[in-house]
Amino acid sequence: MDVQRIPAREGNYNLKDYEKTRQNFSWDEVKKNFSWNETGKVNMAYEAVDRHAADPNKKDRVALYYSSPDREEEVTFGQLSKQSNKFANVLKKYDVKKGDRVFLFMQRSPEFYNAFFGILKLGAIAGPLFEAFMEQAVRDRLQDSEASVLITTPDLLYRVPQEDLPDLKKIILVGDHNESSDKYIDYKKEMAEASAELAIEWVDLEDGMLIHYTSGSTGKPKGVYHVHNAMIQHYATAKWVLDLKDNDVYWCTADPGWVTGTSYGIFAPWLLGVSNVVRGGRFTPDDWYGTLAKYKVTVWYTAPTALRKLVSAGEEAVKRHDLSSLRHLMSVGEPLNPEVVSWGLKAFDLRIHDTWWMTETGAQLIVNFPSQEIRPGSMGKPIPGIEATIVDNEGNELPPNQMGNLAIKEGWPAMMRTIWNRPEKFESYFINGWYVSGDSAYKDEDGYFWFQGRLDDVINTSGERVGPFEVESKLIEHDAVAEAGVIGKPDPERGEIIKAFITLNDGYEKSDELLEDIRQFVKTGLAGHAAPREMEIRDSIPKTRSGKIMRRLLKSWELGLPTGDTSTLEE
Ligand code: WTA
Repeated sequence: MDVQRIPAREGNYNLKDYEKTRQNFSWDEVKKNFSWNETGKVNMAYEAVDRHAADPNKKDRVALYYSSPDREEEVTFGQLSKQSNKFANVLKKYDVKKGDRVFLFMQRSPEFYNAFFGILKLGAIAGPLFEAFMEQAVRDRLQDSEASVLITTPDLLYRVPQEDLPDLKKIILVGDHNESSDKYIDYKKEMAEASAELAIEWVDLEDGMLIHYTSGSTGKPKGVYHVHNAMIQHYATAKWVLDLKDNDVYWCTADPGWVTGTSYGIFAPWLLGVSNVVRGGRFTPDDWYGTLAKYKVTVWYTAPTALRKLVSAGEEAVKRHDLSSLRHLMSVGEPLNPEVVSWGLKAFDLRIHDTWWMTETGAQLIVNFPSQEIRPGSMGKPIPGIEATIVDNEGNELPPNQMGNLAIKEGWPAMMRTIWNRPEKFESYFINGWYVSGDSAYKDEDGYFWFQGRLDDVINTSGERVGPFEVESKLIEHDAVAEAGVIGKPDPERGEIIKAFITLNDGYEKSDELLEDIRQFVKTGLAGHAAPREMEIRDSIPKTRSGKIMRRLLKSWELGLPTGDTSTLEE
């Protein structure tokens, strides 16, 4: 479908002249917006929360509009500052120190944000986990990070395999429970006793703040390590890309278990002191439209998978709600279909701005700015301060319109600083001074970037990044499964779905019940979104002579494509 370019509209945008800002840009200018620029003392929690709590004009502003189907709460910057002080004091009482890893495994709730900032206030490193994770996923992440404290809710406790987690000293339980061992700390009781006074731990810009686990095509999930310095880029993009202004009401739909949910669901709006909406519970179009209307959301950041569902729900659903406050829409996580952009124009009379970045990049890098023309299907242009290009396998830059590996000049503020426990993995991302993303793309003559796909086997299903190795490992733990190869198969609604090819152990017969049992095994052992939607039993799984599963070949067979070079295929 040939989609027309969409011109910028008149508007009072935070970034008016992209070219000029780019030319004269230095990150040092952005630093002047932070108090640490003068004091040398820094902590993300101070810049995002305490600074506003100390400002008479912002102290009583609502920081968090929280709602879920059974709970509703407003939290001001003043309250969030005090509550997170208290939580920091609770952690302190149990000996948490700067650099310790403290993980959160719970639903979004006001308590989550108190705990999150409490962790940062001690200079400890926060690790948010999706509440959808099952035992194996939780085990891998807590083992690798050697987390000493976990904050969770009693209903999720059964998925925390404590016997395999020798480093885990304390578990803080949010909610009613009957646990009596002194390993457990009761959130409510401790918070009631804790002091709201705290001497925050001032840290270095390069000190650790956050670990987000994410998937690659090989091995266990990687602990992507971010530092306080990321705030510089969160702040800048909150202005340029989110276009936030003082009286905006902002909603980012992402869960903080995902980098979008921290960088843009927490830091970016709060660094600017903007009111932030958090909606818990499951997605339905009417619920989401209702949330936009209820809080008079002005700026909305969501994902293509949700937008596609809204398209299916039709324009009638839009008309049932008053969405007149909305002025700016953005998307991230997967390719944004031009059809969805066209639909957005019709349904909301607004442009949807695609943004591209990754867990590893820590913040937005290539985006569509409100003040620029949109070319539907394109991710847009690099933000000021970022140099992006397309490279070949040796790290040489390619000319416009040639497809290759999307790469970013090393050294932007929010870039990951390492992969936890795996420095060699971190090094492997870089070639010739470029961070090589693993996404294939090209750049047109005018500098717009166009996403083409992943160059490795990483699967993107409904915006969730899933490593085939993790799913394969879980599959072969099932008694019936001998070998497994897992691929992403294109799907109109979900982007990709997970398809698993398996071979059965002797003594097992193919049946629908068995396949369903295997699916459930992955779902309850790893995570719902990691369970294969399609499964196929084969006599063998293609492998290289060195024993690597040839997922590419499985994919070619599945899609009826040419199989390419199969010279390394095992006999
Ligand atoms: C994909 C998400 C197309 C891409 C913040 C990337 C996208 C991976 C886009 C990172 C986009 C992200 N268009 N693809 N606008 N944004 N992706 O780490 O393949 O969960 O490498 O971070 O998602 O996923 P991650």
